[in-house]
Amino acid sequence: MNVCVLGGSGFVGTELVIRLALAGHWVRVPTRNLTRAERLRVLDTVELLVANVHEPRILSQLFSACDAVVNLVGILNPRRGASFDAVHTELAAKVMAAARTAGVRRVLHVSALGADPRAPSRYLRSKAAAEARLRAAPRSELSHAEPAVTIFRPSVIFGPGDSLTNRFAGLLRLTLGCLPLARARARFAPICVFDVAEAMVRALGERASAGQTYELCGPQVMTLAEIVRLTARVARLPCRIVPLPDPLARLQGLAMGILPGKPFSLDNFRSLTLDSVCREDGCRRLGITPRPMLAVLPTYLEPRRPAAFA
Ligand SMILES: NC(=O)c1ccc[n+]([C@@H]2O[C@H](COP(=O)([O-])OP(=O)(O)OC[C@H]3O[C@@H](n4cnc5c(N)ncnc54)[C@H](OP(=O)(O)O)[C@@H]3O)[C@@H](O)[C@H]2O)c1
Repeated sequence: MNVCVLGGSGFVGTELVIRLALAGHWVRVPTRNLTRAERLRVLDTVELLVANVHEPRILSQLFSACDAVVNLVGILNPRRGASFDAVHTELAAKVMAAARTAGVRRVLHVSALGADPRAPSRYLRSKAAAEARLRAAPRSELSHAEPAVTIFRPSVIFGPGDSLTNRFAGLLRLTLGCLPLARARARFAPICVFDVAEAMVRALGERASAGQTYELCGPQVMTLAEIVRLTARVARLPCRIVPLPDPLARLQGLAMGILPGKPFSLDNFRSLTLDSVCREDGCRRLGITPRPMLAVLPTYLEPRRPAAFA
């Protein structure tokens, strides 16, 4: 297949693109900055190019001769010139329109568990609005075949290069193990990036996945505090969690939301007021047995032993 992967340079995207290339597909990856896609340069069947994916004409060109399009573009917090509406909702609508024009047969879209028009955070509401735009009927009946849409709603994703366990490990190092934690009892079912990528590869190969939505969860439901403790244990770091009461956690969100890079925000706090656990087993429907955290975390978090002298 010829597949265009928007967001192919990111954490999940890189894993997906590598798998697609190794499976013999030809993959096109637009990015805003080629240095972000460094790891994909070595793959012969991957075409990297700088492109503005928000420009409808450019999207149509990117999708030309593609059998499938995957949209992984997402942000956790808005930045200057990149609102949730623009990056999640409007882009999804543009992807759909360009896919119709280019005659693309499949559109795979990564949303998030908890996406709902009534969700407490703007992040989750914009993800729900994006899903609605993907499912909306075309405005005109111009004889283009309608692409089949498949939506994935993962819980929080872990794996080499994630911004979950790596961030907690970094914070624990910085604070010598003392971590004030918002929503420490929020529940997640962390899923490995390898399983998320595999779900998409399988869906591409299965006609029956057209029109489906898959919730993707790992095998264990864990609180945020349990995820931090496991991270600390594997990375061999000291760990003392100080659970923050909600009013303080809101203040933390407000204060950190104005720091460069917005490490945490009020909107992130609001997302955490919902548990991120599955109501259905999308992994099983795709024939995937998701890995537990403990099977993967040591591969990238465990401190390396010094190499033995020769
Ligand atoms: N990671 C998780 O735990 C998790 C959980 C649930 C859902 N998701 C969803 O899964 C998808 C992939 O997540 P990820 O963790 O792989 O994200 P990521 O590592 O932050 O990658 C995001 C990708 O989106 C592109 N992007 C970001 N802002 C953009 C903008 N304004 N315009 C155009 N492109 C932009 C980036 O491309 P360039 O910088 O190369 O241009 C990058 O390739 C996202 O939709 C995310 O919401 C992730």
